[in-house]
Amino acid sequence: MTKVIFTDAAGAQREIDARDQLSLMQVAKNAGIAMEGACEGCMACSTCHVIVDKAWTGKLKPPSEAEQDMLDLTYGVTAQSRLGCQIVVTPELDGLTVRVPAETRNMMD
Ligand code: FES
Repeated sequence: MTKVIFTDAAGAQREIDARDQLSLMQVAKNAGIAMEGACEGCMACSTCHVIVDKAWTGKLKPPSEAEQDMLDLTYGVTAQSRLGCQIVVTPELDGLTVRVPAETRNMMD
């Protein structure tokens, strides 16, 4: 198990013991965190938008071009924005901290 920390829009933090090889979106949904993940990880919706803590941005694999293209279309994007469905939990990510934005954009609507 790998510990990941989610901060919601109100600033409340939750530490989750995440199963390795699950995506961050799957971890959030399994834990009841408010993340829609409408396309179930097909990179078609952007409702899994997370903002990665600055301390972690350099430790993640960079986003693919397709992920970047999807992020370009969503709300409130920052330099630390990622799609939660594209971050796979591994032991190296123990302590990963992300913020779930208040508003997301479902590109499938
Ligand atoms: S779950 Fe739809 S883009 Fe990630």
